[in-house]
Amino acid sequence: MCAARAYLQRYVGEDSFMVTTRSNIYSPISLHGRRVVLRTMTESDYEGWLDVRERCHDWLLKWEPRSAHSSHLAEDQRSFVSRCAIRERERQMGTGYGFGIFFEGRFVGEITLSSIQRGPLQSAYIGYWIDEAVAGRGLMPEAVVTMLQYAFESLRLHRIEINIIPRNAASRRVVEKLGLRFEGIAERYLEIDGAWEDHARYAITAEEWNDRAPELVTDWLLPSAD
Ligand SMILES: CC(C)(COP(=O)(O)OP(=O)(O)OC[C@H]1O[C@@H](n2cnc3c(N)ncnc32)[C@H](O)[C@@H]1OP(=O)(O)O)[C@@H](O)C(=O)NCCC(=O)NCCS
Repeated sequence: MCAARAYLQRYVGEDSFMVTTRSNIYSPISLHGRRVVLRTMTESDYEGWLDVRERCHDWLLKWEPRSAHSSHLAEDQRSFVSRCAIRERERQMGTGYGFGIFFEGRFVGEITLSSIQRGPLQSAYIGYWIDEAVAGRGLMPEAVVTMLQYAFESLRLHRIEINIIPRNAASRRVVEKLGLRFEGIAERYLEIDGAWEDHARYAITAEEWNDRAPELVTDWLLPSAD
């Protein structure tokens, strides 16, 4: 049986869309791609996280939300633990999901599903970053597809957006490789590293996911044929 058909039978033809190891809202979540694992982070992840943040400081800083009046993301252990607690609370309230990205058992980056709006919107935003040492191996598109599957099939959201500074060519390649729909440029959209930056807006809806899930899952999540 081809992989796409197996996927359709497994996830589209059945009632259950749970694709995680989640057992209740208080348990850690881990989502599995082909090579990456996305999982909620705890205090024990601090050393691995700090190692990447310190090595990749210049690589990351220029793309990160930061106001002209506030300092860069605090990297001490207390701030990290506090962010883990905030994320845990967001998860329990259903307003956001933040995951560490793990590759070959090592922490390599983060991906978040934030600003979840229910009611008539049913929408959220994805944000991400990865260790420069593993860039260029297609790990982030894989992480994004893993997150999209969770957002549409487990959380039942309807629309996911990814917004990118137009000159961030590497990040635009991520969404272009996945075929997310370009919706235009939002002017002075987000304060990044102290400046109000235009953003290219990309989106995918549940209808598009339903059409494209077999292809995206086969290309990025299922074990490769070779
Ligand atoms: C954007 C980012 C998440 C992409 O992750 P990734 O896992 O490297 O994604 P991919 O492997 O699909 O590579 C995407 C593109 O990055 C570029 N790239 C590849 N290796 C690279 C490297 N070592 N350094 C810089 N860019 C590289 C290539 O253009 C590639 O496109 P291609 O596959 O068509 O050649 C990563 O570059 C990153 O974290 N950058 C810094 C933070 C950031 O930009 N966050 C996103 C804000 S919207």
